[in-house]
Amino acid sequence: MNVLLIGSGGREHAIAYKLSSSKNLTQLFCMSGNSGMKGLCELVEGSPSNFATVLNFCKENNIELVIVGPEQPLVDGLADFLIENGIKTFGPTKAGAMLEGSKKFSKDFMLKHEIPTAKYKTFMASTDAKADLDNWNYPLVIKASGLAAGKGVIICQNLQEAEKCIEDLMDHKIFGSSSDTILIEEFLEGKEASLIAFIDGDNFLLTPTSRDHKRLGNNDEGPNTGGMGAYSPVADVSEEIIEQVKTEVFEKVLSGLKKDGINYCGVLYAGLMLTKDGPKVLEFNVRFGDPEAQVILPMIKNDLLDLMLACCDKKLAEQSIEILPKSALTVTMASKGYPQTSSKGDIIEGLQNFDDKQLENGDTTIFHAATKCENDTWQTNGGRVLYVTAMADNLESAREKVYQDIEKIKFEGSQYRTDIAKK
Ligand code: AMP
Ligand code: GLY
Repeated sequence: MNVLLIGSGGREHAIAYKLSSSKNLTQLFCMSGNSGMKGLCELVEGSPSNFATVLNFCKENNIELVIVGPEQPLVDGLADFLIENGIKTFGPTKAGAMLEGSKKFSKDFMLKHEIPTAKYKTFMASTDAKADLDNWNYPLVIKASGLAAGKGVIICQNLQEAEKCIEDLMDHKIFGSSSDTILIEEFLEGKEASLIAFIDGDNFLLTPTSRDHKRLGNNDEGPNTGGMGAYSPVADVSEEIIEQVKTEVFEKVLSGLKKDGINYCGVLYAGLMLTKDGPKVLEFNVRFGDPEAQVILPMIKNDLLDLMLACCDKKLAEQSIEILPKSALTVTMASKGYPQTSSKGDIIEGLQNFDDKQLENGDTTIFHAATKCENDTWQTNGGRVLYVTAMADNLESAREKVYQDIEKIKFEGSQYRTDIAKK
């Protein structure tokens, strides 16, 4: 079977890596993929935002499945368009993608279907939002409703900060139209964890637990980023918590989607806060986490293509997920200036140490994101450059392996955390 993967990040490199061992895969193409994926797929020119280009490519290359990695094309309706044109697509349609595309939609959905989440209120005018600020305890959380590349969540410690934040978002539009609507939310305390499920519209299957590290610096200091490292599984997410999340979150999401007439095929990511009152949903994403995918996918024993096809064909009930008794860990290497800016063209040295390495063999593997290869020389090409990833019998060994090997990779201004999965 010929498959087209859409997306360019470390998540898509990890998807391609995992698909490469799928028994029914004939040829894998990737539209907008990065140079690091070259050994696993054929890179295809073209922008996924041009739906007609995607469809033409599918027709010309006998593509039987399209896998959409990132959220933007899903929110824009790429899955709807491809399905209408007879192309099987892994990833929700526009209606389902609203769970990520609109935080207002997502919170209203959770409220309606009694899914545990923080108290919230939505506002469409800055004067109304500011007038409500006296009714909240501090800290409080202010969120842009629309997609804001992971930057649209601000924690405010006091009234002054909250007023300024509302003005920045709604009057000065620092994140553009994504904050035409904003949410004020109760601040939740606890540890965070991610639980990601495959969904076929009727059934779901959970993948291993994972934890991202969103702040730039060690000890969770510094600005929020797309994610500076992740590990799986997470010891403090007990079987009991997983059961609670199954019944209180995923079962309710599925029945809620059905009640609302939304057929959902793909993955659903629940970002959770483990509070003293039980797990509560911080956010939904309609795709794999990045960098969570880099640690979750290698831990799944199943054939990934089979799982994805089962989602599209509503046959997930016939599958079960087998998880390797291992731990995986990934550390993000980011370029100079990230996350405020990023740097391109810095030479990356040491990548030859990792050619053709396999996680299953205990080797460290590099998942690329913002890299470029010109005349056999690797260069940085954006913010989160690459992910150094290992899998071992336990978390400590995976950690040791990653931090031993990360020193072999060098580029000007590189930034990475040295405390991923450290207690
Ligand atoms: P989100 O994009 O909604 O997941 O938010 C990004 C990050 O902001 C989360 O990973 C949390 O660290 C933090 N956050 C979001 N909502 C809340 C909340 N209600 N209480 C505390 N922290 C939050
Ligand atoms: N790692 C968080 C995300 O993918 O949104």
